[in-house]
Amino acid sequence: MNVGLKTPIWPAGEAALAKAARCLAGGGLVAFPTETVYGLGADASNPAAIARLYSAKGRPSFNPLIAHVGDIPAAMRLARFDGTAIALAKAFWPGPLTLVLPRTKDCPVADLATAGLDTIAIRVPSHPVVLEILRAFGGPVVAPSANLSGHVSPTTALHVQADLDGLIDLIVDGGPVEVGVESTIVGCFDQPMLLRPGGLPRGEIERVLGRPLTQPPEDADSDSGQPLAPGMLASHYAPRTRVRLNAGNVEPGEALLAFGSHTVAGVDAATIVMNLSTRGDLAEAAANLFGYLRTLDVSGIRTIAVMPVPHHGLGEAINDRLRRAAVGRE
Ligand code: TXA
Ligand code: MG
Repeated sequence: MNVGLKTPIWPAGEAALAKAARCLAGGGLVAFPTETVYGLGADASNPAAIARLYSAKGRPSFNPLIAHVGDIPAAMRLARFDGTAIALAKAFWPGPLTLVLPRTKDCPVADLATAGLDTIAIRVPSHPVVLEILRAFGGPVVAPSANLSGHVSPTTALHVQADLDGLIDLIVDGGPVEVGVESTIVGCFDQPMLLRPGGLPRGEIERVLGRPLTQPPEDADSDSGQPLAPGMLASHYAPRTRVRLNAGNVEPGEALLAFGSHTVAGVDAATIVMNLSTRGDLAEAAANLFGYLRTLDVSGIRTIAVMPVPHHGLGEAINDRLRRAAVGRE
């Protein structure tokens, strides 16, 4: 194992995939691309590996992890699927959807990974690199986003290195990710509930369900007790720099995170301007979001002024992450 030394970055390919599978089997921690963000994987059945994973990220251990599997039959060994869950899995897996379901009695995933809950979060990712690693390893892999707890999620291998170098064993580089925000999480309770907006827009899920998703109760976001999706803690995605939302102007010395082709007052005074998508494309904006926040965060400016982003489609997840980024510094 490689702790304390520089973590090697291997380009995705046969050698890297075999090394990743061996490393996971030996209790190691491997970062890899998924279609949403880079994940930090550990053998889901190995409590020691999972304890190391929590510690590398500095993650509160009450915050449970998502089990990643290669296909629906593998998911069905971990959790009980009702009709709704089967319909969602068939419609959207592989892809950026996580389902929270009751654990099966013989679920091999360690209690530490599910924080002692009797439910488990599962997804089948679509990125070929993680699918190959899952196939070569042959079991479920728990993987939170491969960032230090409280930082924005990584969308490139270099982001992973910036946060976790020397703390993990291997980074598999599959290039920048496609989606850019984390998976959408749906709780398959009596009424399916949107626990976290993400890379799969709510509207697509509701079309399959034929009804609206329910919302978590207001107090599910609090620090007290066991939140429904503990990762929804308000300050989860915080950069260090102050974030000012719905900016209609730029103050001198601020950076501007723009969206679309229009401009705002004072833009000439901005220290830096980065545009999430000049053509106003929400998928492009989602893919750029975390990388741009990281860049602006290390640029030394005082405040990031963010132009309004529409709320429909992927805009729901983008606005959710921006709101958390703003709360983190207040
Ligand atoms: O796109 C993604 O989902 C990425 C990639 C790597 O797959 N993973 C990711 O994991 O975002 P993480 O650990 O950063 O976020 C997982 C979220 C957390 O908010 C956690 O609280 C929630 O899933 N979660 C896990 N198990 C849960 C459960 N049984 N009930 C409710 N929420 C759960
Ligand atoms: Mg995360």
